[in-house]
Amino acid sequence: MSREKRVVVTGGAGFIGTHTTVELVNAGYDVIIADNLSNSDISGVEGVEKILGRKMTFINVDCCDKDAMRRELFDKYEFNSLIHFAAFKAVGESVVEPLMYYQNNLGSLVTVLELMKEYNVENIVFSSSATVYGQPDELPATEATPRQRANSPYGYTKQVSEDIIEDCTKAYSFLNAIALRYFNPIGAHPSALIGELPKGVPNNLVPFVTQTAAGVRECLSVFGDDYDTPDGSALRDYIDVVDLARAHVAAVRRLVEKKNKEQYEIFNVGTGNGVSVLELIREFEKVNNLKLNYKIVARRAGDVEKIWASTDLANTELGWKAERELSDTLASAWAWEKQVRGL
Ligand code: WQD
Repeated sequence: MSREKRVVVTGGAGFIGTHTTVELVNAGYDVIIADNLSNSDISGVEGVEKILGRKMTFINVDCCDKDAMRRELFDKYEFNSLIHFAAFKAVGESVVEPLMYYQNNLGSLVTVLELMKEYNVENIVFSSSATVYGQPDELPATEATPRQRANSPYGYTKQVSEDIIEDCTKAYSFLNAIALRYFNPIGAHPSALIGELPKGVPNNLVPFVTQTAAGVRECLSVFGDDYDTPDGSALRDYIDVVDLARAHVAAVRRLVEKKNKEQYEIFNVGTGNGVSVLELIREFEKVNNLKLNYKIVARRAGDVEKIWASTDLANTELGWKAERELSDTLASAWAWEKQVRGL
């Protein structure tokens, strides 16, 4: 397969990386998965292979290790596009261990960009986050909504990473980049062969919900019901992980086909709908026909009250729109949890 149709996916053994790999292959791209498994498991690659019915090229490599990346990846394979997922992503952990986050998340990006420059790899799609917006003054958040200084080192690494990439596209004419700002990725592949595998106690809502339903966690704590929202609980834009994966395919295609209008472009990836924590719990209970054990507790420090995306730009420029219903997404999350727990 030609260099143009081959894509390296760093962090490709992870939650979004595995789902994106499946959709890239389904769209006719050849994918190389690069991951050091520091925050994921080889079972993710195995799940992708089961879904696709074929072996995948998997390189166990740390994106911060420039010599290894040169030896194992850039010297060995011809490719012209790369999706950079590899990063740590736990907000709370980043507050406790900021240096680990700055070193890994920024170091890996700089190393990848240096090697792309050395080997003339022209296209990068970057895994960014709606966390760069903080609490917007106006909603929905558009790509022009001013970023607010993130209140966690994790979120700050996403902001700085966006700026690093923008600076590189200004300095180097070879480079084309798209940053995708994810809202809240949730759910799992319909096959239940890949999904979210948080290590330890989940930080995010939906894995905590599914683990509570599975009896792995005793009780879900809802962080606050005294927000200025219809039911008092916080609002988020929950985007299905398969829809999110397809946004990456659209972004890669835009760059490969040289349809991008600027060297650096940013797109929100969400549904455009704000859903509350309590609404999500009710939907989860309804679609999966179960009762969830939860209690209301105090707000979590650092949480924003409400945020959801304007997705007009992705709709018109990427030709991408979220398609899966929240109920289907929550059913897929529960099917995945049951598969993982052998229920
Ligand atoms: C969602 C809502 C919580 C857990 C962060 C990052 C973002 C992305 C996703 C990495 C909030 C509430 C949660 C719980 C709860 N990054 N909640 N009980 O904080 O919106 O976004 O994670 O994956 O970049 O910023 O996601 O899932 O942690 O929380 O009530 O046990 O659920 O208060 O309102 P968040 P989240």
